[in-house]
Amino acid sequence: MPLVPMRVMLDHAAENGYGIAALNVNNMEQIQAIMEAAKETDSPVIVQASRGARKYTNDAYLRHLMLAAAELNPNLPIAMHQDHGNSPATCISAIEQGFTSVMMDGSLTEDGKTPSSYQYNVKVTREVVDYAHARGVTVEGEIGTLGGIEDGHGAGGTGLEHVTDPVQAEKFVADTGVDALAVAIGTSHGAYKFAQKPTGEVLKMTVIEEIHRRLPNCHLVMHGSSSVPRELVDLINKYGGKMKESYGVPIEEIQRGIKHGVCKVNVDTDNRLAITGAIRKVFAELPDKFDPRDYMGPAREAMKKVCVERMVAFGQAGNAGKIKPRTCRQMVGFYKPKGARK
Ligand code: G3H
Ligand code: 13P
Ligand code: ZN
Repeated sequence: MPLVPMRVMLDHAAENGYGIAALNVNNMEQIQAIMEAAKETDSPVIVQASRGARKYTNDAYLRHLMLAAAELNPNLPIAMHQDHGNSPATCISAIEQGFTSVMMDGSLTEDGKTPSSYQYNVKVTREVVDYAHARGVTVEGEIGTLGGIEDGHGAGGTGLEHVTDPVQAEKFVADTGVDALAVAIGTSHGAYKFAQKPTGEVLKMTVIEEIHRRLPNCHLVMHGSSSVPRELVDLINKYGGKMKESYGVPIEEIQRGIKHGVCKVNVDTDNRLAITGAIRKVFAELPDKFDPRDYMGPAREAMKKVCVERMVAFGQAGNAGKIKPRTCRQMVGFYKPKGARK
């Protein structure tokens, strides 16, 4: 089937009380790992590419990898999502490349680091919503900012400086018309989120609960949601890595979020850890190897295992076949204001 707008999947997830992992992709093995995991668990798939990923791969390679995933898995709905679009231009170029969903992250200015004003955020997000919805493409916005700048987007700090204000979230959704809303609850991107297992003081799940109470029909998104499994960090360090002790977002907290309106859960770091651990192991144990397949194969397998675990834990497993797919073209009518002629 053709790539599916993310909104179709999020609607199904919300109606049926599960979440969908949004998994970042930068190369062929990562797409293969995700698709193998989805096939094994009958899961709908959200694949996302950051600006950095698009630059690293080149859009044409990325697009064809996605088309290959769809061709090889005709029964699995797949959405292709722009992660942290930093400007309308980035989102528009993604749509031109066939992405079926975009994130306009106007919580930060175009540099991806500086917190923006509410007015700026509304303006750029509204612009993308108008452009994308006219083409049936889904839009995710963000209000509040994540901490850290170690990987990708973030405003620095601990993540507690710009936690989402639920009142402002409600207004933002009304002002922009986004399909999904990323909220800031104290997480940050990358491996170093919390110095100890997070309590409600630093991981503010109650903020999600309050936003969901105010916006029961809005699909919420948790970014920075890798769990940073101890065993993956230990494996990396066992084979020569030098990662500091760290804690991520516990799976049970994500499951709590899913009970309160979270439909999309962004996970990238856990897959990076799995890949790195597997490659380090081969390099350390089999130093005579030099064929990339000897270490990229185990890396792909290790990432697949993480993806399967998340797909099962978030509840998306078993749902691929239950989603009635729609194309972007079919979604144009869904967004057209009632009474509009064309
Ligand atoms: O935004 C965070 C994701 O993990 C993507 O990271 O910008 O390094 O590709 P990236
Ligand atoms: P992690 O770094 O926790 O995997 O978060 C990924 C993310 O939010 C991508 O947008
Ligand atoms: Zn993110």
